[in-house]
Amino acid sequence: MRFRTALILVTVLLAVAVIARLSGRPLLGNFQHEGTAGAHGHGEKTSQSRAGLKIPEALKAEHEELHKELAAAITVGGETGQAAQAVADALHLHFEAEERFALPPLGLLKTLAEGEPDAGSREAAIEMASMLKREYPKMLAEHGEIKKALEKLITVAKKESRPGQVEFAHRLMSHAQTEEEVLYPATLLVGRFLAGTDH
Ligand SMILES: [Fe+2]
Ligand SMILES: [Fe+2]
Repeated sequence: MRFRTALILVTVLLAVAVIARLSGRPLLGNFQHEGTAGAHGHGEKTSQSRAGLKIPEALKAEHEELHKELAAAITVGGETGQAAQAVADALHLHFEAEERFALPPLGLLKTLAEGEPDAGSREAAIEMASMLKREYPKMLAEHGEIKKALEKLITVAKKESRPGQVEFAHRLMSHAQTEEEVLYPATLLVGRFLAGTDH
C-alpha cells in the first residue's frame, strides 16, 4: 500500500535526523522498555499550537475512508449490518483518541527531518506522545476488541455473500496492524526525540 510505504519512509527519515544529532547512540535498541520523560499534561498552554499540529493528510484520509465504509456496511442490514454496528461501537472512542493524541505528532515528522519545529508544536507533540505512552496498553486492548468484532463481521459477511464487507474488515485489521508496527512507535519516537530523552 502506497501510504504505508510513505509512512515507513518518513519514519526512516526521522531516524536519520536523530542519528545525525546523537552520533553513535543506539536509537531503537531498548525503545519499548526505556522510560519516556516527556512533558506532563495541562492543556491550556498548548492549545494555540495544537492548531498547527496536524495529522498527516494520508492518515486522516485513511480514517475518513474507513469511517465511510463502516457506515455503508451498517446500512446493508441483516447480520452483516449488525456486526458492522458492533465494530463501530468498538471503534468510535478509539478513533477519537487516536486523532486527539496518537496521530497528530506524526504531522511533525517532515519538519523534524528537515529542520526544527516551533516551540509550541514541540511542546504539544511531547505531551501527546506522553499521553500515548500512558494509554498504550489500553489502545492495544481496544485493537483486540476491534479485531474480535471484525472477525465476527467477516464470518457473517461471508455467510451473507457480502464480499465488499469482508474486504473492508480485512483492511481495517491491516490498518490496526500498521498502527501497532509503525505509527504508534513513530509517535513515541517523535516524543522521545523532542524531549531529548534518548539514552
Ligand atoms: Fe486508526
Ligand atoms: Fe487503532
